Amino acid sequence: MRLCGIFFVNTPCIFLAPYQNPMYVAAASAILAMLLFAMFWSCTMDLHINGRTYTVHCDSSEMLVWILRDDLGLTGTKMGCGAGICGSCTIHINGVPVRSCVTPVGAALGQIITTIEGLAQLGEDGTEILHPVQQAFIDEQVPQCAWCISGQIMTAAALLRDNPSPTDDEIDNALASNYCRCGCYVRIRSAVRRAAEYMRAHV
Ligand code: FES
Ligand code: FES
Repeated sequence: MRLCGIFFVNTPCIFLAPYQNPMYVAAASAILAMLLFAMFWSCTMDLHINGRTYTVHCDSSEMLVWILRDDLGLTGTKMGCGAGICGSCTIHINGVPVRSCVTPVGAALGQIITTIEGLAQLGEDGTEILHPVQQAFIDEQVPQCAWCISGQIMTAAALLRDNPSPTDDEIDNALASNYCRCGCYVRIRSAVRRAAEYMRAHV
């Protein structure tokens, strides 16, 4: 508080010293206080992620991937190219797959964000039930290094929600922009096919 008092009173005094008018000093202090207030609030925002609300303090132009990973510890979302090309940072906003490395956090304000951590559901007894795509990726033993996997799963989950019985071509097209540096494409496609079977079996 003392520091703030010194800042609010002394800073305008320095600039307005030639005038030495208490009215000028009071007006300048009020303007400065309003500017700082506005700056503080523009940097504080609520994000709705995986059914929870998180309050974050950041620049609204900061990329969402960094808020998720560094500020909120949701490190399941991976950072790859950082240029919207590889797909490893894919999350859902309102159910639509987006690249969080090129999505400013301000664009996600008021939207429903889902990351790989929020894809599983809780069963009636409180145990976690993996999403069929997650289960299929395990059952097909898809991952090698696994860096691309959460992006692959998020993209595949959105595909199967809209198209429960995709052909191989449709799977390949949907995942064409999700790169796997380990070359696990054959197992990825098998896992998506298997996930589709799991989902149809539970309809
Ligand atoms: S890290 Fe976002 S698309 Fe590559
Ligand atoms: S499993 Fe290594 S990049 Fe896909």
